[in-house]
Amino acid sequence: MDSDTEMHRKESSSENPDPVKAKCPPVLVDDVYLNGPTLDVNGAEDFIRESMRIITEDAVKKATDVREKVCEWHSPEDLKELLDLQLTDEGESDTRILERCRDAIRYSVKTTHPRFFNQLYAGMEPYSMVASFIIEALKPSLYTYEVSPVFTLVEDAVLRKMREVIGWKEGGDGIFNAGGSLSNMYAVNLARYHHCPDVKELGLSAVPRLVLFTSQECHYSISKAAAFLGIGTKNVYVVPSDNRGKMIPTALEELIQTAKSEGAVPFMVNATAGTTVLGAFDPIEEIADICEKHNLWLHVDACWGGAALMSAKHKHLLKGVHRANSVAWNPHKMLMACLQCCAFLVRDKTGLLQRCYSARASYLFQQDKFYDVSYDTGDKSVQCSRKPDAFKFWLMWKALGSKELEQRVDRAFAMAKYLAQEVKKREGFRLLMEPEYANVCFWYIPPSLRDLPDSTELWEKIHKVAPVVKERMMKKGSMMVGYQPHGDKANFFRMIIISPQMN
Ligand SMILES: Cc1ncc(COP(=O)(O)O)c(C=O)c1O
Repeated sequence: MDSDTEMHRKESSSENPDPVKAKCPPVLVDDVYLNGPTLDVNGAEDFIRESMRIITEDAVKKATDVREKVCEWHSPEDLKELLDLQLTDEGESDTRILERCRDAIRYSVKTTHPRFFNQLYAGMEPYSMVASFIIEALKPSLYTYEVSPVFTLVEDAVLRKMREVIGWKEGGDGIFNAGGSLSNMYAVNLARYHHCPDVKELGLSAVPRLVLFTSQECHYSISKAAAFLGIGTKNVYVVPSDNRGKMIPTALEELIQTAKSEGAVPFMVNATAGTTVLGAFDPIEEIADICEKHNLWLHVDACWGGAALMSAKHKHLLKGVHRANSVAWNPHKMLMACLQCCAFLVRDKTGLLQRCYSARASYLFQQDKFYDVSYDTGDKSVQCSRKPDAFKFWLMWKALGSKELEQRVDRAFAMAKYLAQEVKKREGFRLLMEPEYANVCFWYIPPSLRDLPDSTELWEKIHKVAPVVKERMMKKGSMMVGYQPHGDKANFFRMIIISPQMN
């Protein structure tokens, strides 16, 4: 960066503003000059321009280049040294700060790299990324229409469209929030409020022992929600799943009866569409029948599997989802919106969400505003400030259209099928099961173990393979693939191919 520019910016941010530039005599209060800008935006513009160049080169082009490393591994101790993390009284030059930007990018994992298969998200999405930049530049907060007119309407439009995709053609409600885990928490709280509205004012003293049901394969956020909301993790009844990871409906019904016989009050079932490890889809239609019979709130955690709804070929996996009372769906996963982008959608059309969460802060949600205050949607949220994450999905959806989103989803399914076929063909690889979704789970069995008889000792040895392979891959920077033990299964790889950059 030009050092004159840097000087100019630093000078104009001094404590003593130039009165000529400020066009009025200096105003001094408590030894602080009040007039004159403390930040020269023109100087900042050069800094931002240069940082954008670095972002484009290093965090976009290089990060997605298959010839580059997916990560540059360092231990936490080494990385602390490399980054020099101490915060000091005096600020640093812009030149140094730009070096720090480069370092932050350099030592970060490139989750947009074509060899990043570690998580349930991946890939570079240019439109969503630009939407994120716009959001960061404008710093909007989504509580009121008056500070976020555009993004309020955008969120409404995206939620409307997502509800339509789910099959709720006649309206409903919803909100974007900071994470699918939070969406699940919203669902548990909303279901409880629906069952027992007094809980909002009277707290736990107003409710009996409530029990919710979810499968053994569900995301851990369900039990966190139960702990956080005072339901208690022991009141999460874990329904067994079949060998493909799908909830067994008869087992659900038995557990509901068990809870009732104990004097507890069942209030909600969580069905998972796309389980985290195996990618299984619970049978929503059958679960919905049971929920209707017992008058239980049905929440579908489609954080991961919701993307399949965009595909005419694969949406059957969520058959019956329109019968759910609420759905959590993360466009930041397979659909590739920038993190975080998580919708919580509700079938109710009577304002349940608003009634459950509202606190009616009079400094923010004044009822005598000059515009239609139904557009002040912030009181449906547990947050006060809230990012307009829907914009990150809206801009890419506008750019790509539903058709291209569908193609992305179909491609991810096809990639999983192809990988599973390759795994089956290759010596030393063993598929855990045929994938139903994009989760391809397999063991790698090294040559030294291939001829050993199937035994507990063999599986104990196989259990140790994945961590070693993963360590080697990460230290080389060649690839990142997740692994985990699961139930009685020894460590296996779970590989997720989402990125369109992968070929
Ligand atoms: C099925 C399922 N539900 C919920 C979540 C939580 O989503 P988030 O990471 O946005 O909190 C995940 C995360 O992977 C998931 O797989």
